[in-house]
Amino acid sequence: PSSPTLLAIESSCDETSAAVLQGGVLLSNVVATQEIHQQYGGVVPELASRAHQQHIVPVVHEALQRAKVPKNALDAIAFTQGPGLLGALLVGASFAKSMAQGLQIPVVAVHHMRAHILAHFLETPHPPFPFLCLTVSGGHTQLVQVNSPLDMHILGETLDDAVGEAFDKAAKMLGLPYPGGPLIDRHAQTGNPQAFAFTITEMPELNYSFSGVKTNILYFLQAQRRHDPDFVEHHLADLCASIQYTLVETLLVKLRKAAAQTGIRHITIAGGVSANSGLRQALTAEARQHDWHVYIPKMEYCTDNAAMIAMAAHFQYQAGQVGDLAVSPQPRLPF
Ligand code: KG4
Ligand code: ZN
Repeated sequence: PSSPTLLAIESSCDETSAAVLQGGVLLSNVVATQEIHQQYGGVVPELASRAHQQHIVPVVHEALQRAKVPKNALDAIAFTQGPGLLGALLVGASFAKSMAQGLQIPVVAVHHMRAHILAHFLETPHPPFPFLCLTVSGGHTQLVQVNSPLDMHILGETLDDAVGEAFDKAAKMLGLPYPGGPLIDRHAQTGNPQAFAFTITEMPELNYSFSGVKTNILYFLQAQRRHDPDFVEHHLADLCASIQYTLVETLLVKLRKAAAQTGIRHITIAGGVSANSGLRQALTAEARQHDWHVYIPKMEYCTDNAAMIAMAAHFQYQAGQVGDLAVSPQPRLPF
């Protein structure tokens, strides 16, 4: 059918999620976040797979129930094929495949980063093609040109750390708990973004690098602490505001360049870091200046969720891109 009923499962990192989408309309989206990793200061792969195993049955059950869709009304089951943690991906893939086999329906294997971009189609108005998407998460930083739901290519990406990782590592240096990105954002609200100057790393073409600024912040803090052991406590808001300004500006430099090079003025952001208020404000200001049309998905569609996997699967299903049960997860699935 051209308006398929799809169940989708996301399990690439530390969120177990299931969603039901019918004819491109979202009927349910259930997300179980794993709290266990907080005490370790990062995602522990072993613990992630175990938590996915515990969550997946109740999460899928609830998604179907909320959507009021019986299992035998499903046309296909989608799952995240990669990129992500192998053990975590395996839980979602195995579940999707066995359920599909039982129901005698196909599976749809979805690319996690493409799905982040297609999350824009869960809401209206959606961006017209072609548009640019800056995908910013804990694992990725990519500038993508999107010509159609299935035709997209990377214009530039990070050559080392992701911007979310940079936020989290900077937060850790400031003594903030994991994940520190949202906390930097919160403290930055009352700080001066020009208080301290950190390195805005410019890579060739449209690529990014976030490892230099990390070292830059580390050495700066070490030097300051020699004079004032409580330097961070005394200047937390200013430090957070300055770090946030630096990371956001690093993102914007290439976004401006990409927009100028391609002539595309429909600009979108996706991924967990699009929650950042500094980035949102900066984009709104840039939009005014350059006459951009900016699209930012609702928060719940920015962080990892199965609704975006379902949306990507919807387009793939319509294009006949359904898989058999031999398709397996790939932690480093190419774009
Ligand atoms: O997309 P996501 O939920 O998970 C993946 O990495 O796939 O992104 C999580 C990342 C974390 O690094 C987190 O610190 C960051 O997004 N993040 C933020 C904010 N909210 C989440 N970074 C800065 N400011 C925020 N408000
Ligand atoms: Zn993600």
